[in-house]
Amino acid sequence: MTVIDVHAHVFPRLSQAEARVLGGPVEPWLRVLGDGTGMMMNGDQEYRPVRAPLWDAEQRLADMDTFGVDTQAISSTPLLFGYGAEPERAREWCELVNDRILDYCAQAPDRLLPLCQVPLQDVALAAEMATKAAAAGHRGVHIGNHVGSLDLDDAGITDFLAHCAEQDIPVLVHPWDMLGAERMNHHMLAWLVGMPAETHLSILGMMLSGSFERLPESLKLCFCHGGGSFAYLLGRAENAWHHRHVVRSDSPKPPSAYVRRFHVDSAVFDPRALRLLVEVMGADRVMLGTDYPFPLGEQQPGEAIRNCAELSELERDLILGGNAMRFFGTEAS
Ligand code: CO
Repeated sequence: MTVIDVHAHVFPRLSQAEARVLGGPVEPWLRVLGDGTGMMMNGDQEYRPVRAPLWDAEQRLADMDTFGVDTQAISSTPLLFGYGAEPERAREWCELVNDRILDYCAQAPDRLLPLCQVPLQDVALAAEMATKAAAAGHRGVHIGNHVGSLDLDDAGITDFLAHCAEQDIPVLVHPWDMLGAERMNHHMLAWLVGMPAETHLSILGMMLSGSFERLPESLKLCFCHGGGSFAYLLGRAENAWHHRHVVRSDSPKPPSAYVRRFHVDSAVFDPRALRLLVEVMGADRVMLGTDYPFPLGEQQPGEAIRNCAELSELERDLILGGNAMRFFGTEAS
């Protein structure tokens, strides 16, 4: 049984000088403090304290051994997306970040699967870069769930997703740049409330705007954090679709008809929530995801899966690794 964590972050070593290529207010770089800790920086501002596995593959692999995780899909930290930059600057930046992620994962190529990032503010450029990155060794693409006011149901972003399907490039969607931030700037509420709402918004937006009708079924799409608040409130959307014309005007089928068109990770932390998630999504659509190595991640990877008494052994194995092997095509490697 191979255990695969599909939601694990890296912040490769990047200097402030390198981050200046973005040319904007967001200037993400890493201050390494030498005692196993560091500081994610945004320009001269301290953004968040972090631990060495975020940039040190050796320490990550030691943690993976301790926790029985065989493989991680490695995605950048959303602060690095660079969506606010002018596209050519963002291209240069994404190339730099993607190269660093490849270098990082090359330290254990059979255990660390690199995911690239792309300048989603320019969908043609993003598609070109996703193809190029896949050819260079990236195993999928990691995107934010929106670019400013453009959500995943935007026509251009839908084209980008169709391109990924056509090229068989798996897509991991991570919430970021949370809505209502001005009301959630305390107690990490932007992470605790805003993030699940962002993901819920993305999934429902795609369902109700008919995006899945325009996308091939072969698209490999996974939403982080268990799809946010989506699964818990699918019944609300379903009821609305049936009883309000304005809700169903762009989608020929109710939301539940599209549930099998995407995956979610297992990062819901509570076996009761995981049980509901598996009932809504199907055991073949949920994959271990932890948010490693951040404090808001599942500290014992797979704990909620192993403690969910209602799952059969087969379902547990699928969620811990079998589904991810199919999603990332690692059976063939
Ligand atoms: Co995350």
